[in-house]
Amino acid sequence: MDRNTLQAASSIINKSHYLAALTGAGVSAGSGIPAFRGRGGLWQVYDPALARIDVFREDPHRVWEMTRTLMAMVTGSEPNPAHSALAAMERVGLLKGLVTQNIDNLHRRAGSRSVIELHGTLGKLRCLTCNIDFNSADFNLKEDDPLCPHCSAVLKPGIVFFGEAVPFGALMEARLLASTADAMLIVGTSAVVNPAAELPVIAKGNRAKIIEINIEPTRLTNSITDVFIRGRAEEVLPDLLGAISPCG
Ligand code: OAD
Repeated sequence: MDRNTLQAASSIINKSHYLAALTGAGVSAGSGIPAFRGRGGLWQVYDPALARIDVFREDPHRVWEMTRTLMAMVTGSEPNPAHSALAAMERVGLLKGLVTQNIDNLHRRAGSRSVIELHGTLGKLRCLTCNIDFNSADFNLKEDDPLCPHCSAVLKPGIVFFGEAVPFGALMEARLLASTADAMLIVGTSAVVNPAAELPVIAKGNRAKIIEINIEPTRLTNSITDVFIRGRAEEVLPDLLGAISPCG
């Protein structure tokens, strides 16, 4: 990794008063969870239509088959050094909040506390008829599709499907974080899905410095990114933490 680029990023972070982060599937790649797009991505194995709310309403069983595979991957995975480095940045008071598009709970498991889950979580289930949320842990999801204890409708995984609005509270918190930030770390996201993709633009509109970490350039890289660090999040973030931490 280029030392000058790392220095430029650490200097932005050291000077910042309000650092925020936005993460995507690439931050969990080091935990063995495939990203959605690109080679080996989930959308090459599964039809993205399976993540559409209308498809769930028509055929929830088909959607649950894919969800079970996703759950098995997530349950068998552990936070990686990228998650740990972000948790450490929060612990030492540098990182004020993190918005994630991931549904795998790995940021919290690594110790991050100020986490906004914009696309929901696999840890929850929702009855679309009764509008009630349940904890996934209270159901046996291995074989049968979970049913609402009140109305027997098939419960929906607590993740945001295409065609659904993101949780209103989470979106408001995420926009507030982005508009308060004077620096933003964007890690492992292709930044093509709104409203997550609008957050870096909001931050930049308020003159925040944008640091992007990705294995390849994105649509942000040549538009609003100030410092692009090309590399794997699980390698770059611990190095960045070392560069900004006085005892690193
Ligand atoms: P994508 O799969 O679109 O993008 C993942 C990004 O991570 C790409 O830009 C990769 O280059 C990068 N990447 C892969 N491995 C990496 C690594 N080890 N280190 C750093 N970067 C790496 O995933 P998201 O941007 O998260 O939404 O996708 C956004 C949303 O689209 C998802 O939350 C999901 C999906 O449809 C819903 O399900 C609602």
